[in-house]
Parts: sequence; C-alpha cells; structure tokens
Amino acid sequence: MNSIIEDLNWRYAVKQFDSTKKVSDSDFEVVKESLRLTPTSYGLQSFTALIIESNDLREKLIEASYGQRQVADASHLIVLCSYSTIKNEDVDSYMQLISNTRNVAMEHLEGFSNTIKGTVNSRTEEEILNWSTRQTYIALGQLLHTCASLRIDTTPMEGFDPAKYDEIIGLSERNLTATLVCPVGYRHEEDSAQHGAKVRKPLDDLIQTI
Ligand SMILES: Cc1cc2nc3c(=O)[nH]c(=O)nc-3n(C[C@H](O)[C@H](O)[C@H](O)COP(=O)(O)O)c2cc1C
Repeated sequence: MNSIIEDLNWRYAVKQFDSTKKVSDSDFEVVKESLRLTPTSYGLQSFTALIIESNDLREKLIEASYGQRQVADASHLIVLCSYSTIKNEDVDSYMQLISNTRNVAMEHLEGFSNTIKGTVNSRTEEEILNWSTRQTYIALGQLLHTCASLRIDTTPMEGFDPAKYDEIIGLSERNLTATLVCPVGYRHEEDSAQHGAKVRKPLDDLIQTI
C-alpha cells in the first residue's frame, strides 16, 4: 500500500492515551516544525500553537473539555489559538519577516502590505476571528498527518468550551481565542477505538468529476 495511505489508515482519533509514554524531544521538534510550515492565507500565520506543559492546567482543562481525559493523559497538549484581532502592526511584522527572509526592500512590499491591511481592516472582529480560525484547521490537518507519519497518536478536538479555556489559560490578554485542541502521544493498548474500521463514504460519493 502507498505509505501515505498507510499513515492515514494507521491514525484514528484516540479516546484513551497511555500516560506513561512520552514523545521524544526530537520527534516533537518535527511536530513543531510542521506547525510552523503550515500554509496560511497571505502567509500571515494569524494563529499560535500553545503547548500546555503544566499538569495542573491540563487537569483543569479536562472539565472544560467535557470530561475528555485525553487533554491530561497524552504526552503533549497542543491548543491551537486564533488571533482574536489582527492589527496593522501584525501585518508590518510580517512584511519585516519577508524583507529579512528574502532580502527584499520594505518599499517593494508596500503594495502587498496595503492589500492585506485593506482586507483585514474591512472585516469585523467576528469575521477576522472566523478567518483566523479557518487557518488553524489547516494547521490541524497537517499536524495529524505529520504525527501519523511519525507513528505518534493524536485526537483532533472541537469538543471543549473556548470561554473556559480562555479563563483557565488566560488567552484574552494574549489576544488569542482557542479554536482547536490536539493531544499528542501514544494510544493506550486498551483503547477500543483503535480497532474500529474506518467509516468513510465511497470515493464516488465524496469526489465527483463534472
Ligand atoms: C475538527 C474535529 C473535531 C473533533 N472533535 C473531537 C472531540 O472533541 N473528541 C473526540 O473524541 N473526537 C473528535 N474528533 C474526531 C472525529 O470524531 C473523528 O476524526 C472522525 O469520527 C473520524 O474518525 P477517525 O479520525 O478515527 O478516522 C474531531 C475531529 C475533527 C476533525
């Protein structure tokens, strides 16, 4: 079987992690680099991936995740957060990054900068959050596949209360809103979910050529 398809069949949404197994630092570096390489709209990267190391915080997050223990039991916990607002300074920092990375003069980036600022400033705060949130789903997809190819388990999670996450982690003061949660680690041998056959529509239902 093609190795990509093997990876994608190997992974599943883990319900129970083995809390004794830890992802190595070297593998976790790959996971972080995969997040960094996520493509985003305009390349603006208006999200932050928070790695929650504190066991105390992770225990508190179980209730805010409707009792889903994966947030505390997995080796690592990643909370993908969208920028709640995008300021002109964020765009300016991005232009500076392009300028430094590609050795382009800032004045050559003015048109691009104005295009992004025009888009950002014409949107309401709700639209901006919605837009940034969509970027985090791209990061999640890439994260799931990267982990699977390293034979690291994950649970993509929307089942949590963002307001409680905000309160517990203190996200508002960082201009962040939690949009997705992804515990990362190793499946427990007793997690029965690993034995379920993949439930997916037949190709012809999902992909249509017209
Ligand atoms: C965006 C998103 C949110 C999800 N939220 C949860 C969740 O909160 N808890 C959970 O156990 N599974 C969650 N899942 C897992 C899905 O139920 C699972 O991916 C789907 O049923 C397909 O099964 P598989 O991933 O095991 O192949 C989520 C999946 C995605 C993509």
